[in-house]
Amino acid sequence: MKSSPTKLAVLSTVLLSSLSLASAQNSTYKRGLTDHFIGYLGATKNYYPYHFNRTDFFGGSFGGKDNDSTPITKVPVIFIHGAADQIIGEEWANNGFRYSIEYFLQQGYTKAELYGSMWGFADLFYEYNLVHNSEWILQIRKFIEAVIDYTGAEKVNIIAHSMGVTLSRAAIKGGKYSIGDDQEIDLGEPINEFIQTYVAIAGGNYGVSICNIQFYYDAFRICNNQTGFFPGTQDDKPQCKDISKFLGRLNKNKIKEGDYTYALLSLYDQVVPPVVFNRYTSFFPTMDQGFIFNSSEYDHVGVRDLTANVQYVLVNQHYFTPSQGENVFLYANSDEKQDIKVFLQ
Ligand SMILES: *[C@@H]1O[C@H](CO)[C@@H](O)[C@H](O)[C@H]1NC(C)=O
Ligand SMILES: *[C@@H]1O[C@H](CO)[C@@H](O)[C@H](O)[C@H]1NC(C)=O
Ligand SMILES: *[C@@H]1O[C@H](CO)[C@@H](O)[C@H](O)[C@H]1NC(C)=O
Ligand SMILES: *[C@@H]1O[C@H](CO)[C@@H](O)[C@H](O)[C@H]1NC(C)=O
Ligand SMILES: *[C@@H]1O[C@H](CO)[C@@H](O)[C@H](O)[C@H]1NC(C)=O
Repeated sequence: MKSSPTKLAVLSTVLLSSLSLASAQNSTYKRGLTDHFIGYLGATKNYYPYHFNRTDFFGGSFGGKDNDSTPITKVPVIFIHGAADQIIGEEWANNGFRYSIEYFLQQGYTKAELYGSMWGFADLFYEYNLVHNSEWILQIRKFIEAVIDYTGAEKVNIIAHSMGVTLSRAAIKGGKYSIGDDQEIDLGEPINEFIQTYVAIAGGNYGVSICNIQFYYDAFRICNNQTGFFPGTQDDKPQCKDISKFLGRLNKNKIKEGDYTYALLSLYDQVVPPVVFNRYTSFFPTMDQGFIFNSSEYDHVGVRDLTANVQYVLVNQHYFTPSQGENVFLYANSDEKQDIKVFLQ
């Protein structure tokens, strides 16, 4: 059934390969939510319990207006980080979407147009036991709702990374979640009509291949076949028959995550290996287009940190054309048929 342990080092390579991304903290802008946004959240029963300011972490949150008359002229962007990460930290382990936030600020976005709030506790040592529990799905869902309410925006954009992809897809699609031994939670109706562009970076939508290795399956709760990234053992179309219950249900749900939906992945991703059963796991059935990066600096975090410009044009123009010579492929979704076309190399 499951294969033998052969790739023992794979999971920990992220720790080493990410070190090169460390750099000094940018002190020209302030982390956290603005007092104005915190005031709004505190005065709203719907949101107060979720503690979105996440002041328990240095990089726990970002966003907000200065006052009632701060203008919002762009479609706000909400960033959803991956497992054991933060929104805008200060070092390799918790950078979250720091590079994207800085890039968007440089392009003229303001703090009133860029939002994020942590799910989880940035606990790296616990990372391999995290699961898609309804608590995190609800946390993400409520934050998206809070930003829509607070900004008064007709639509928002969402950019998600790694486990933040599968969690946020669930949050957007809505419905009831009672997976594992969690209490049942009803998220309500889908909110996809409020999402303009959805960018999913290095997600594990069809599971994580190493979870098929008995050693990992047994050792890491994140690999489990209910709420985890278990990719299944029996391939089928459009997905494995015995893929984890959570992922199977997510992929069967036809609600498109936004008006425009994109996936970014790297062939050098060492945490979420790109292929499971001949499928790119970072693709998802309801995506419009996928972009595949094929050079070594685009690892699991590189494909997030080095693509801020790609995220920016996807959100603002709804297309991205790789330059000649760039190691990026464009893949046009043709209804779950993963027929990979080489666009440019
Ligand atoms: C953050 O939010 C919580 C509740 O949501 C509140 O108790 C706390 O005072 C807030 N912290 C700050 C610094 O505003
Ligand atoms: C409100 O905030 C904006 C910046 O977002 C600032 O330019 C303006 O002066 C502030 N207005 C008041 C009344 O403080
Ligand atoms: C820090 O962020 C600001 C605002 O986004 C930007 O203008 C500046 O170039 C950044 N500085 C560095 C050193 O990255
Ligand atoms: C999950 O795995 C257990 C054994 O570990 C098995 O008994 C169960 O049938 C599996 N569930 C699904 C939905 O595949
Ligand atoms: C990725 O690039 C390498 C060369 O660096 C090439 O051999 C390989 O075929 C490329 N992968 C795909 C899927 O095209």
